[in-house]
Amino acid sequence: MARQTRRFVCQACGASFTKWSGRCESCGSWNAIIEEAIEAAAPRSLGRRRGHSISFADLQGVSEAARRRRTGIAEFDRVCGGGIVPGSGILVGGEPGIGKSTLLLQVAAALAREAPCAYISGEEAVDQVRMRAERLGLGSASIQLAVATDVRDIVSTLDRPDGLGLLVIDSIQTMFVDNLESAPGTVAQVRASAQALIGLAKRRGFTVVLVGHVTKEGMIAGPKVLEHMVDTVLYFEGDTSHQFRVLRAVKNRFGPTDEIGVFEMTDAGLKEVTNPSALFLSDQRDDVTGASVFAGIEGSRPLLVEIQSLIAPSQLPSPRRAVVGWDAGRLAMILAVLEARCGLSLSGTEVYLNVAGGLRIGEPAADLAVAAALVSAARGVPVPPKTVVFGEIGLSGEIRAVSRTEARLKEASKLGFTRAIAPTAPADQKKRGRTGGAMEIVGITHVRDLVGLFGAARSGGEHEFGQAVRRVPKAASHG
Ligand code: TYD
Ligand code: MG
Repeated sequence: MARQTRRFVCQACGASFTKWSGRCESCGSWNAIIEEAIEAAAPRSLGRRRGHSISFADLQGVSEAARRRRTGIAEFDRVCGGGIVPGSGILVGGEPGIGKSTLLLQVAAALAREAPCAYISGEEAVDQVRMRAERLGLGSASIQLAVATDVRDIVSTLDRPDGLGLLVIDSIQTMFVDNLESAPGTVAQVRASAQALIGLAKRRGFTVVLVGHVTKEGMIAGPKVLEHMVDTVLYFEGDTSHQFRVLRAVKNRFGPTDEIGVFEMTDAGLKEVTNPSALFLSDQRDDVTGASVFAGIEGSRPLLVEIQSLIAPSQLPSPRRAVVGWDAGRLAMILAVLEARCGLSLSGTEVYLNVAGGLRIGEPAADLAVAAALVSAARGVPVPPKTVVFGEIGLSGEIRAVSRTEARLKEASKLGFTRAIAPTAPADQKKRGRTGGAMEIVGITHVRDLVGLFGAARSGGEHEFGQAVRRVPKAASHG
């Protein structure tokens, strides 16, 4: 018989300890460790009983390519790698209120035209889900709705060959298996419930989508503890004060992981955004300093985003640096490169950087756009109108070429931009012809060239730049 022992388990990362502590040593979360009853480990040795022999196959064998089912919501399908794979498990994580239930109800309703779909809620009553469906204009979709939290009941009900296509579990943190002592939402329960449901999906060949809340407080087990168990991990993110939401693949056994899907939250649910660049570019004004447009690539798609920066004089010994939507360490690096290689010192000023619209960018190609926004703010000179910027900056200040230049230029041209400040590469010159010749490329090889575009470098340090902010913006000094 399995012996019960008590362990202290971090609800954020799943690490377990013999003693309680305020901060998890493994992931650094505060107040995330709670006591849980855990089944004692299996006996150390296997004993004498012989197992069955397993058979091996070779790589040349014929296997069925992963069949996929398109749900009909193109942004969701693309993030999944071209549709959902039967017999797989998908985790959809996100903060409460971001729109997970809404998204999955829409996905289930869209797929229900092709295959039977079940939606099991552990959080809302059937009436509530119905009311939401009504609001979304999905009142007539043929989804099988249920409210349940006991995994044994769910498995008994669905363990039959009736060709179910999709099962949505909303949320995994409300589910429990009755032979575990821990409360629903703990690491042990979340893992055991997910294991049972994923096993069922594999056995019966349907796709199971597990909704997982991400919480900052860490009092319930986060989706992190499930990431290794599922085939696909998607995060639904965005700023609840903004309308749009980004669905991002962070793990996918059946497709690429850098794909994003963009949605807009409206009164009638989530709408797909097929041209996200238009959304992420705030209203363009030509005379604003400290803003640049980055021609980025998200997954397979080009995406234009506005990068904004603000530089203000500071009396503090270590002035504030605040970054929204980008990596703070990377900003520190760019500031250091600007100072060391171009003599542009911002060490005595506060620096704020914001990626417009609440998007998060991870691409190093944004370096040059960030630098352009910073130099523009420091010099009080706007980036010339209709100009996009991209390129990676190295520590010596050199500008490195980035991938998919042509796709970036094409997207920029499509949205009415006529000029790109980009790394100089011989290949670019040839590509210009192919993009229709509409884009003028201002090729640069070093950040010094970029600073040069914003007017002659002034001698002197931080104080002058602090004052430069308040100078009346002049017209850009290049064409
Ligand atoms: P919900 O899907 O319940 O979030 P989650 O399951 O991630 O907790 O969505 C919550 C928010 O979305 C809620 O604040 C209301 C808003 N919403 C709309 O703006 N329009 C809609 O059509 C729906 C259904 C919800
Ligand atoms: Mg919900």
